Amino acid sequence: MEFSRQQKKVLRFPYSDYDGIICDGAVRSGKTSVMSLSFFLWAMSCFQGCSFAFCGKSVGAVDRNIITPLLSVQYLQEQFHITYQRANGCLIVSRGKRENRFYLFGGKDESSASLIQGITLAGVFLDEVALMPRSFVQQALARCSVTGAKLWFNCNPENPMHWFRQEWILKAQEKNMLHLHFTMEDNPALDEKTRQKYHRLYSGIFYERFILGKWVMSEGLIYDCFSPSRQGYAIAPVGMAEQGSRTISVDYGTVNPTVFLDIYDFDSQFYVAREYRWDSRKEGRQKTDQEYVEDLCTFMGETPCTVLVDPSAASFIEALRRNGVYVLPAQNEVLNGIRKTASLFQQDRLHIHESCTGLMDELGVYLWDNQSNTDRPVKENDHGPDALRYFVNSLAEWNF
Ligand SMILES: Nc1ncnc2c1ncn2[C@@H]1O[C@H](COP(=O)(O)OP(=O)(O)OP(=O)(O)O)[C@@H](O)[C@H]1O
Ligand SMILES: [Mg+2]
Repeated sequence: MEFSRQQKKVLRFPYSDYDGIICDGAVRSGKTSVMSLSFFLWAMSCFQGCSFAFCGKSVGAVDRNIITPLLSVQYLQEQFHITYQRANGCLIVSRGKRENRFYLFGGKDESSASLIQGITLAGVFLDEVALMPRSFVQQALARCSVTGAKLWFNCNPENPMHWFRQEWILKAQEKNMLHLHFTMEDNPALDEKTRQKYHRLYSGIFYERFILGKWVMSEGLIYDCFSPSRQGYAIAPVGMAEQGSRTISVDYGTVNPTVFLDIYDFDSQFYVAREYRWDSRKEGRQKTDQEYVEDLCTFMGETPCTVLVDPSAASFIEALRRNGVYVLPAQNEVLNGIRKTASLFQQDRLHIHESCTGLMDELGVYLWDNQSNTDRPVKENDHGPDALRYFVNSLAEWNF
């Protein structure tokens, strides 16, 4: 295995006077792999009979991103005796008389928070720390009481006001932490073609954060790569209506507008073919749930399909079900949903029929809320974009 200059600094870090290390930067830049290796070797050469923690967003993520890759390193298999008790979330590693334990924790798993409370650690490795609750991180750090313990953090950039940047990255020097910034060039295993592929997957703030590795503010247009002339279409591809899989996605409002989008998934491309919109304020009249059900059935026509509905619209969901419509409550993950939608626009895989003028107009004015310290859209003219995000959130991960 060859390492880049930046990765070699991670391998040398344990033998420095720093109390911890922070690696931030682009995706796929070689942070997790080199840190987990360096952490493992440091733990096994400097400690005996101690416990360590590998923490990620969830235990599953630790298993996937850290343990499985580590176990596949032949050198470690040859040099150490490793027993992985997957069910207990524990790795027992020995070499001669020396033995240490590595526990797996998930920052978002309820059980992990209580489990980590009782343990004494000689080191913690927090992978993707910016995705964990601050309280979990505090708890994990409080457990590091063995002499010589060190802290290991990595993450991709987020909003510049994020607590991890404010409390750790900006204060790295006063906390005696080594801060290393990674770009894709720091991963020697990434060839030019793969790098280009990742460049094409992201746009807007996601490009600046995940590709350029910058902690940038979310401001301005959310879908800056969308334009009616680029993603709009007039004629549907042959076979779309017959062979495509169809979904109707709904953003429901009583005072606010209600929007239905008729969407086809065809040949790994997505087409918003039609839209329905009722704006009570403009029309001067609110519709009842039953009226909306009738409008939806008319909109759906003769071919039934899955209907995704804004999860907060409980009464409307019930009304649709009573009328025999197959409804699934939509998944309302905002930031991740926006990232995935932006990625589909960026790859020119999401198309909107020119008749859907309401949706197109809203996409053109869909803005980040610059009054907020967190990443969130301005809650105005967001009904079409919300319905579109519900659809994108329903797609399997391999689409992205
Ligand atoms: N020095 C190396 N030699 C061979 N393969 C490497 C090397 N460094 C990284 N890789 C491989 O590159 C891929 C990306 O690396 P890694 O997961 O460490 O990146 P990351 O910075 O943690 O990315 P993310 O921010 O997306 O989590 C992995 O498959 C990893 O095994
Ligand atoms: Mg990683």
